[in-house]
Amino acid sequence: MKELAGKCAFVTGGASGVGLGMAEAFVGAGMKVVIADIEVAALDEAASKLAALGGDVHAIALDVSDRAAMQSAADEAEDRFGSVNVICNNAGVSWRGFMADASYDDWDWVLGVNLGGVVNGIATFVPRLIEAGEGGHVVNTASMAGLMASAGNSIYCTSKFAVVGLSEGLRKELAPKGIGVTVLCPAAIKTNINRAQRNRPDALGDTSEALDADGMALLDKSFDGGTDPAEFGAMVLDAVQNDAPYVIPHQEFAAAYRDKVEGIMDIWSGEAPPAMRVEGNELRKQAFQRMWER
Ligand SMILES: NC(=O)c1ccc[n+]([C@@H]2O[C@H](COP(=O)([O-])OP(=O)(O)OC[C@H]3O[C@@H](n4cnc5c(N)ncnc54)[C@H](O)[C@@H]3O)[C@@H](O)[C@H]2O)c1
Repeated sequence: MKELAGKCAFVTGGASGVGLGMAEAFVGAGMKVVIADIEVAALDEAASKLAALGGDVHAIALDVSDRAAMQSAADEAEDRFGSVNVICNNAGVSWRGFMADASYDDWDWVLGVNLGGVVNGIATFVPRLIEAGEGGHVVNTASMAGLMASAGNSIYCTSKFAVVGLSEGLRKELAPKGIGVTVLCPAAIKTNINRAQRNRPDALGDTSEALDADGMALLDKSFDGGTDPAEFGAMVLDAVQNDAPYVIPHQEFAAAYRDKVEGIMDIWSGEAPPAMRVEGNELRKQAFQRMWER
């Protein structure tokens, strides 16, 4: 979407960090912006900050894991701004610990927000974008942890790998409709993500950190050199304007990612696959293509 001035962006998790950085960039581009977030005090503060930058901003209290509330938020955004053109499914939480120690509540919380929130945003807004027939763009926030897994962060990785896969598929599905999809895979951005437990619902039990105080201090320090959210927001704006499939700014992970991909390529370095199997893959593509032609 080259022309963004006057269009509307809906940003979940817009009260802090990456979401607020994106909202700032969108305001700078002359867009109307809806920020939706579970943290009401931070939401009000963010709305004031964006308004001071000259933004036409609307704030909505929203838990992205609540499907009905997502639909109501979309209605509210449309009532306020007419239509929504750019959807940013960004709200997210982190949980640190080993899978062997995780409770079902831990899984439900992280997957409910990080994956469920994205699913709910897509199920709510994408049919509306298609119906409007004016193109649009979907931005899903994954992470570098959606491309490479690490021990102690595996539930988060699970959610983010899912968001990458979902986004790559959605991009293929929506291209014929003139709707772009970008997935964000950053490493460290200086935000409040290390304090995500602040938003864990009481009903989901234990909110204690698996990291001790020294571990938390190390983790916080590891973000000192992280990217500024406003700088990252500007990269996302550019990606929306140029329909980039990925925003992956942190090159320090390139060597490790290359090792991962080369390890897979090595597995495939054997003999060529049988022609019938290659043909089968082509037929499968054609079968799915028929869905679009109907
Ligand atoms: N900061 C990083 O280094 C980094 C790296 C990769 C990916 N990410 C991703 O960026 C996204 C934004 O996180 P951030 O780093 O800006 O952290 P943040 O904590 O600063 O912002 C996250 C926002 O999401 C909101 N939120 C949490 N649960 C919610 C819910 N159920 N419904 C609605 N809003 C909710 C929070 O209130 C907060 O405003 C997340 O998806 C995160 O996983 C962050």
